[in-house]
Amino acid sequence: MKQILSYIESNKKRYLNELTELLKIPSVSSQPKRKDDVLNCANWIAEHLKTIGMENVKIHKTKGHPIVYADYLKTNGKPTVLFYGHYDVQPEEPIDLWTSQPFDATIRGENLYARGAADDKGQIFIHFKAIESILKNYGELPLNLKIIIEGEEEVGSPNLENFVKQNKQMLKSDLILISDSSMFAKDVPSICYSLRGLTYMEVELTGPNRDLHSGSFGGSVHNPIQALCEMISSLHDKNGKITIPNFYNDVLSLTKEERNSFVKLPFSEKKYAKDLGVKELYGEKGYSSLERVWARPTLECNGIWGGYTGDGAKTVLPSKAFAKISMRLVPNQSSKKIAKLFENHLKKIAPKTVQIKVRSLHGGEAAITPIDSNGVKSAVIALEKGFGKKVLYQREGGSIPIVVQFKKILKTDTVLLGFGLPDENAHAPNEFINLNNFFNGIKTSVYFYYEFAKSFEN
Ligand code: BES
Ligand code: ZN
Repeated sequence: MKQILSYIESNKKRYLNELTELLKIPSVSSQPKRKDDVLNCANWIAEHLKTIGMENVKIHKTKGHPIVYADYLKTNGKPTVLFYGHYDVQPEEPIDLWTSQPFDATIRGENLYARGAADDKGQIFIHFKAIESILKNYGELPLNLKIIIEGEEEVGSPNLENFVKQNKQMLKSDLILISDSSMFAKDVPSICYSLRGLTYMEVELTGPNRDLHSGSFGGSVHNPIQALCEMISSLHDKNGKITIPNFYNDVLSLTKEERNSFVKLPFSEKKYAKDLGVKELYGEKGYSSLERVWARPTLECNGIWGGYTGDGAKTVLPSKAFAKISMRLVPNQSSKKIAKLFENHLKKIAPKTVQIKVRSLHGGEAAITPIDSNGVKSAVIALEKGFGKKVLYQREGGSIPIVVQFKKILKTDTVLLGFGLPDENAHAPNEFINLNNFFNGIKTSVYFYYEFAKSFEN
């Protein structure tokens, strides 16, 4: 291990230079104009996997963006880990809120800033460098390793489930490892054992059959923007509960033990509010913020538009109004069922003054992973060695829908080994990865591969 640690130490600068190259590629999966960039990024990943010593590197085409596969299957009788990550990123907009250019990685203080620095390019790169440092020093990995890095995670992984179904044998493993989440806090490494699910909807209201002069018609026709606002504001009651009938039917309630374990975590509601710049927090009555985000279903309006939004004033009563509304789900809820409940409810509450269309954009189920497995035990040891700190157990509010599909299709459990931070600005301007997390993450990953191999020895 000493040799590997000193190798990591003496290659730090090169690691950051290489990561900077990867972060330069604007692989925004949701924007058609970035299709070539996404493909370039897949090529870059494939080439890099070859450089670090991975074998059978292949770019698998899909209907959308490609999936990169590589493996190292030379250690007979040792366990196999399937590492999953994504090379696509969220759009960089709004660009003027970035302190430095989003695709030009910049170090300020102890962080490296760029789109994808944490979610997820920086975190997959942690593993690439862990693998490199083992192979360059010892010539072989302590276990068998398969890697898939996809390019459509941020748009709901529309082609991944099929890929997994069609390549069951190729993807067979003893454990799935994902680094695409956060530690509990700086210097507080954690194991995440639950993610929320998601249902993402779009609503379109049409009022009059064309845009109208707001003076000539205002007052006689229901403005669809107003109608949409009235509908959206009725989706929560005064206790912050969602009003869609039967929405909570299948929710798996928190146990007393789990609620108690949340209370013991080093978390201050006051500091949380202050960090976010809000005077008061908001949410479902009767639950703490951690409970609300980690273990309760929620509904958010992600965007709302219609009418005139350009410079200056325009007096118009618009024909149409739109909203994007998503619901985070918890274990036992079905994303499809919730989409249907949402659609029916919105159609029911739409006033007769407008016509409504409801579309489902994507969805995925919430996950709970076991915390007493060999994989988690190895991860705990690895994190404690890599960070020199005790590990906490936590849930997360975000979603990685493939976790549940891996379990269903491959019958394999996932370990979520996150190296991000809760304030890393994922999906927002000034996304960063903490450099300490990056380098300790590499060490932790090295330890993990050895520990997990060892856990199969007797
Ligand atoms: N890395 C996140 C998932 C995540 C976020 C895990 C926060 C833990 C904490 C992932 O890249 C992501 O953003 N996923 C989407 C999923 C969606 C597009 C299906 C999400 O959660 O919005
Ligand atoms: Zn991610």
